[in-house]
Amino acid sequence: MSNILIRGGTVVTAEQEQRADVLVVGEKVVAVAPDLQAPAGCQVIEADGAYVIPGGIDPHTHMELPFMGTTTSEDFFTGTSAAVAGGTTTIIDFAIPGKGQRMMDAYHAWRGWAEKSVTDYSLHVAVTWWDETVREDMGTLCRDYGVNSFKHFMAYKGAMMADDEILVNSFLRAKELGALCTVHAENGELVVRLAQLVADQGILGPEGHPLSRPPEVEAEAANRVVRIAEVLGAPVYLVHTSCQDALDVIARARAEGQRVFGEVLAQHLVIDDSVYRDPDWDKAAAHVMSPPFRSKEHQAALWRGLQAGLLQTTATDHCCFCAPQKRMGFEDFRKIPNGTGGVEDRMTVLWHHGVRTGRLTPSEFVAVTSANTAKIFNMYPKKGTIGVGSDADIVVWDPNKSRTISAKTHHQNIDINIYEGMETVGNPAVTLSRGKVVWQNDQLAVERGWGQYVPRPCHAPYWASQNKRNELAKPTAVKRG
Ligand code: URP
Ligand code: ZN
Ligand code: ZN
Repeated sequence: MSNILIRGGTVVTAEQEQRADVLVVGEKVVAVAPDLQAPAGCQVIEADGAYVIPGGIDPHTHMELPFMGTTTSEDFFTGTSAAVAGGTTTIIDFAIPGKGQRMMDAYHAWRGWAEKSVTDYSLHVAVTWWDETVREDMGTLCRDYGVNSFKHFMAYKGAMMADDEILVNSFLRAKELGALCTVHAENGELVVRLAQLVADQGILGPEGHPLSRPPEVEAEAANRVVRIAEVLGAPVYLVHTSCQDALDVIARARAEGQRVFGEVLAQHLVIDDSVYRDPDWDKAAAHVMSPPFRSKEHQAALWRGLQAGLLQTTATDHCCFCAPQKRMGFEDFRKIPNGTGGVEDRMTVLWHHGVRTGRLTPSEFVAVTSANTAKIFNMYPKKGTIGVGSDADIVVWDPNKSRTISAKTHHQNIDINIYEGMETVGNPAVTLSRGKVVWQNDQLAVERGWGQYVPRPCHAPYWASQNKRNELAKPTAVKRG
């Protein structure tokens, strides 16, 4: 078993910063304390002047996803290789069954594809239709396969959209199981109608995309799903919250004691909607994702939401399509595959724009890049911290190391980078995945298939017993007269 001593750094967890060494034996952390002695034959990594942080967890990626008539260009090997170059050591991807497809079949397909991963990985499974077999498979996934989160798309009508009936059935079942429902909140019916109205005006380029998905479309769905969750007493997690309006929904629900979580994407924090007016069609189309990029006012609101703890996690929604794939929608923005990349860049973008600007402390950075995610999806303290017994997913983070982000130098399998030209200060010097050095001296040292599946047990029943209107889920008989 190999030993590694990470010496002389400042160990940062969500709870504290301390000058300490970290001793790793095999895949686990065995000691965190000042002045540890290196055992004989131990590899020593000097971290002087650097932070030593838990590897990032990206709870929202789509490697090799079949979507909108094509498949994302990034597979689990290339995508997770890029992830470790940026300091992310765990991803949670999505198994998405087609309508009528058994959830178990989709889950097994994704497990097979994910075996080539370099980082550890886990899977949310989407609920895209409903019958008794879906109910049964949700139980099997929770009980036997360590899936404790189910995804619902309120958009993408005609494909994976979940209507209210599906949401209600699924939320009740998830509550029974102690699982967490996650939701893409956009009103799919409105999107289709608005997109048609935009197209009818002759607007067929990428600039039509945000017009068909304004903040109100997201806010309506966010409010509806949060209210559904409230009535049923089910916890809910909103993915890629992109605007003030949806944030307000989360803020209100949390203020009322509801167990509602919010995720924000790094790109929504730093890129605004001017990208859709780029005269270069390919560049504008490269930014077609849902929900779309918003105005600077919304960006400022998202930062405040992150600082205030209304948004607990950060993700990338890494969903890569190269220019030829985006060109499927050259004649009509509705056919541009939706998605952007960034699994490699999330940590540095958040450090540069979050920590260096004073918006986040290093501990808060750790909270929103790994610890909170590990807690919400029940893989803490295996993941999301550096403590005795934790997996040795560790990044030696050099706060002075700069990088100019570019598609020419990134490791992602996509021909464009949405952060092209952005200079960030604060980058990984060394990345360890379960005790193995996978990134050092700006070189990948990855082993195809090194990543392991991370099972996530369901939460305790107290997760569901949450809000003042819980009784609505169990109406008591009211006698007349
Ligand atoms: O545009 C996006 N976000 N594509 C990936 C699928 C999804 O909605 O998360
Ligand atoms: Zn989505
Ligand atoms: Zn997504």
